[in-house]
Amino acid sequence: MRKIVSMPGDGIGKVVLPEAVRVLKAAGFEAEYIHADIGWEFWCNEGNPLPERTLKILDEHKIALFGAITSKPKAEAAKELAPGLRDKGYVYYSPIVGLRQHFDLDICTRPCKTFKGNPLNFIRRGKDGIEEPEVDVVIFRQNTEGLYCGVEWTDPPDEVYKAFNTHPKMKKFASCPKEELAISTRIFTKKGTERILRAAFEHASKFGYKSVTVCEKANVIRETSGMMLAMAKEMVTEYDGIDLWSTNIDAQMMWLTKNPENYGVLVSGNMFGDIVSDGFAGLIGGLGFACSANVGENVAIFEPTHGSAPKYASYERSIVNPAAMILSACMMLDHIGETEKAKKIREAVLEVVSEGKVKTYDMMKLTGSQEVLDNGAASTAEMTDAIIEKL
Ligand code: NAI
Ligand code: MG
Repeated sequence: MRKIVSMPGDGIGKVVLPEAVRVLKAAGFEAEYIHADIGWEFWCNEGNPLPERTLKILDEHKIALFGAITSKPKAEAAKELAPGLRDKGYVYYSPIVGLRQHFDLDICTRPCKTFKGNPLNFIRRGKDGIEEPEVDVVIFRQNTEGLYCGVEWTDPPDEVYKAFNTHPKMKKFASCPKEELAISTRIFTKKGTERILRAAFEHASKFGYKSVTVCEKANVIRETSGMMLAMAKEMVTEYDGIDLWSTNIDAQMMWLTKNPENYGVLVSGNMFGDIVSDGFAGLIGGLGFACSANVGENVAIFEPTHGSAPKYASYERSIVNPAAMILSACMMLDHIGETEKAKKIREAVLEVVSEGKVKTYDMMKLTGSQEVLDNGAASTAEMTDAIIEKL
C-alpha cells in the first residue's frame, strides 16, 4: 500500500489534516499514513521543532501532507523552552522553512482558481455593473533561494564588509558605522531559476495556459530579476502557443484587482512569489481555500497556505475551513498520478461551495468564535461531511 507521511504540526494543522485524510479515503484513495513529529511541542521539549527522526521518515517515504506549525520570534521561543534546555545554545527556526531547505523543495506551486458561487469571490465594478471575474492562475514560486535564503548579517564580519565595499554603490553607505548596517542578500542561481521557469512553462503547456508571466522587478533588480527574465525569454522559444509576459511585482499587485482573469501561469522568485500568491489567493476566498505544493527532486510536501490559527485550536468543535487542506491533498494526488481522484474531490468541493448550503464561518464573513456554529456556520467536520457526501 502507498505510504504517505502525515505531519499535522500545531494548532488547526491537527484539525484539518485528519479531515483531508477522511476525504481522501472517501474518494477511494487507499494509503497508510505515517505520523511524523514537527512543531512547537518538539521545540519546547527537545530544542528542535524538526526532529531528525522526521527527516528520516520523509527521506524514506518522500510524499507528505503537512498541516501548519506555530512560529514565534527567537527571544519568545527561547523563553518557552523546557527549563532543562535553556541557555544550551538552542535557537528557534521555522521547521517548514527548514524542510524546504533540507530537502531542496525548490518548486512551490500555488493554484488560485475561483469556485463559482463562493461568497468570498472578488467582485469589481465594471462598465455595466458588478462583475465577478473568473480567476484561474497558478503561481510558481522559487522556494529556496532569493531574499529568504538566510544569507544575512547585522554588523557584518570584516571580510564581508570589505567585499561589499568593492561595489561602487556601497559608497552611499560609507558614513554608516558598520555595526549599524543590516544586510539581507537576494541570491538566485541559474539552476534554481531554470528549474522554476521550466516547471512554470511545462505546467502552462500541459494544461493549456496561454501565457507565462515573469513577475519580478527586472528594471531595478537587474542581476537577479534580470537573469530570470532573460532566461525566460530564451525558454519561451521552446513553447509554441505560449506568450511570455513580464510584470513588476508592485504594478502586478495593482493589476491583480483590475484584470486578474487575464493571467495564466505566473513565475517569481521567493519573496515576490510569496507576495503575489497571497494576493491572488485573496481573490478566490483567502486562507480557507489557498493550497500549495513544495516539490523537490526527491521529496514533495503538500500544505495549506494558512498557519496554525492558535486562537481556534482549542475549540471543542472546530470552526475553520478544511478546504485549503483538502485542496492541498488534491495537489498531492495529482503529483502521484491519482488525477481522477483529485478531480472528483475538487468537483465535490465546487458543488458544496456553489450550492451554498454548508458554509464555514469565513464564507459567511463572520468573526471567528465558538458562537458562529449557533449562527448557521458549519463546523470543520460538517464541511468535510458535506464534501464527502458529494463524493
Ligand atoms: P494563520 O494563517 O494561522 O491565521 C490567520 C487568520 O486567518 C486566523 O486567525 C483565521 O481568522 C484565518 N484562518 C486561517 N486559517 C483558516 C481556515 N482554515 N479557515 C478559516 N479561517 C482561517 O496566521 P497567523 O495568525 O498570522 O499565524 C498563526 C501562527 O501560524 C503563527 O505562529 C505563524 O508563525 C504560523 N504560521 C504558520 C504557517 C505554516 O505552517 N506554513 C504559515 C503562516 C503562519
Ligand atoms: Mg506567505
